[in-house]
This record gives sequence, C-alpha cells and structure tokens, in this order.
Amino acid sequence: MNLLSKPTDKRSQRKNEHVQHALNQSLQTAPSDFDGVHFIHQSLPSFNLDDVNLSADLGPFRLDLPLYINAMTGGSEWTRSINGKLAAVAEATGIPMAVGSMHAAIKQPELSDSFTIARETNPNGLLFANVGADVSMEGAKTAVDLLKADALQIHINAPQELIMPEGDRNFKAWRDNIQQIAEEIDMPVIVKEVGFGMSKETLQILKNIGIKYTDVSGKGGTNFATIENSRRKNQEMSYMDNWGISTVTSLLETKPFQHDMHILASGGVRTPLDAMKCLALGARAVGMSKMMLEQVEHSGVEAAIEFVDQFHHQMKKIAVITNAKNIEELRNRPIVLSPELISWQQQRSME
Ligand code: FNR
Repeated sequence: MNLLSKPTDKRSQRKNEHVQHALNQSLQTAPSDFDGVHFIHQSLPSFNLDDVNLSADLGPFRLDLPLYINAMTGGSEWTRSINGKLAAVAEATGIPMAVGSMHAAIKQPELSDSFTIARETNPNGLLFANVGADVSMEGAKTAVDLLKADALQIHINAPQELIMPEGDRNFKAWRDNIQQIAEEIDMPVIVKEVGFGMSKETLQILKNIGIKYTDVSGKGGTNFATIENSRRKNQEMSYMDNWGISTVTSLLETKPFQHDMHILASGGVRTPLDAMKCLALGARAVGMSKMMLEQVEHSGVEAAIEFVDQFHHQMKKIAVITNAKNIEELRNRPIVLSPELISWQQQRSME
C-alpha cells in the first residue's frame, strides 16, 4: 500500500495543510522591522558592479551566494514534488537547501523518498536534514544518512507545539538532547527557530551547550501561530498571532554572539534589500522559505531560478550604493535604526 497517496494518513495530511496554509498567508509587506533599518546612501561608489563579491563562509562551506532555501516540507506525495522542484532550483543556482522535518521519514520509511528526492535531484549540492528537538539520537542519524546531508538543522518550535492541541507539552529535555546530538554528529548542527525569532537568553543557552550555528528565523514572514490556529475550528489561541521576536530584533540580540557563532537569518525576508540588511546586521547567509515555495508552486522551477539569480544580482546593486564590495565591508557600513529598534536595543542592554 502506498501511504503517500493515502489521503487519510494524518501525518501526510498535516504536511499538506502546512503548505496550503503557508501559501494562503499573504506576505507581510509593511510595516516590517526591516523598514526600520536604513542604509546610508553613498553617491560616489569606489568600485564597479562587477567588483562586488557576496560569497560567504559558513563553517566548512563556501557559499557563492549568501542565500539558502530554508526548511519546509516532505512526507506526502505533493510535498515530494515540492522538494524535487526546490532541489532543482538549488542545483541550478548553487544555493544550499534544507528539507522539512524528517520525523515522517524516520517513523515511516515508506515516506522517505519525499525527502530524498532532494538528494537525487541535486547529488552534489549542500543539503541540510531537519529534525525536531525531541528527536532520538538514532532518528537524527537516520535523517542525516537518508539525505546524505551536509549539515543538520534542529528546529525549536515551542509556540507551535503549544498552540496545536495535539502538540508537545514537554520541553525541558530539549537542551540536553540538542547538546548530545551536536556532540555526537560530526557535521555542522544548526539550531533554528521556525518564525518566532531568538532572544539573547536562548542564544546564551545554545552557546553554553556548544552550539556553533543558529538560524534566528524571526517573526515577520510565515506565521505558525496563525497557521496552527487556522487548521482548526476552535482557534483558542488566535490572540497569539503577534507572538515572537522579529528577524531584525533577533539579529540585534545576536550581537554579543556573532564572534562565537555562525548566525543565519530567515523569517519574512521579502526583498534583496531585506537580505542585505540581514547581512549588515551580522548574518552569514539569508534563508527564505515561503518566497521559494510560492515561486516553485505558482511560477515554476525556471521562474524560481530566475528569481534567485535576480535576487542575487540586485543584492550586488545595493552593495554598490552602500559602497561595500563584500559582506565584511557591508557589516562595517553605517546604518541608522528607527526609534523603536533603538528602544529595543536600549531596554535589552539595560538588564
Ligand atoms: C516551515 N518551516 C519549517 N521549519 C523547520 O525547521 N522544519 C519544518 O518542517 C518546517 N516546515 C515548514 C513548512 C512550511 C510550509 C513553511 C512555509 C515553513 C519554517 C521555515 O523554515 C522558516 O523558519 C519560516 O517559514 C520563516 O521563513 P519565511 O517563510 O518567512 O521565509
């Protein structure tokens, strides 16, 4: 029996619902915290567009473009096709790609090809496996092996679990579990949020347990509080739609950790300008989920490849008028923050 096509399989159904609800969510245009970060225009650039090089180092990986396709899906027939398309985009553009949570494949091996299609499509690309913080050591290893992964993402999603009536209620074992997996697995382990952002308290805990890679994945884009509420009639926690820390404020929180950790940014990145702001605020690379999903599902693989190429090209154009020909220079360019962001910074450093 092929569970992939069995519509009653709850796990597959949930995966499809997440994708459908994410696609239905309108992308936040304004206001976004990104609009409170201002580059200072430079009228006399000291180099040409062709001189710009935005390649980035991420631990052992060299990224020609500082972009990646962030974790989304797998576990059903539909999401298998999505992972295939995303992997084709990753292959053509050379950017890394994460698959969605692989617990489906760990628990039901017959679902694993909805993830491994990403490796089949992109045999030599950088691929990140993805598991939750409650995964067993064996499960984490299985996920990495199945995908022949280059890195492992561990997602932390407490608000989503708590809003789901059937979600997890036990969290205190997460820290030890993450630590043990990171110590055992011999590759970069990236601890990521899922759109609720990361505080300096969380980052401190992650640093203390030896984590070297984090993806702040902040509020402002895909909203799993809203998605989980809209999946059911009784939306008892719908007032939580605004919960979380934006990607910009999360990046401000990462400032004291940027020397010890590789910081990745995702969550509500709408434009090449937003992505450049992430890099200026200290991110090594910038991830997009919903935007990439929308591209492959609504416009197709060719258009999505063109989207990534144009995105990168426009990032370079912005580099010219900030007079920064690489990411290191961009980090040292002046920026001005809105009063709200300054207030956040002041209140958070007064503690
Ligand atoms: C996600 N995200 C996610 N993250 C994760 O670590 N494991 C997962 O299985 C999923 N699943 C998932 C499904 C869908 C349909 C979407 C759109 C997203 C979260 C994702 O990686 C990212 O953190 C957030 O979506 C914020 O980024 P965007 O969408 O605003 O660019």
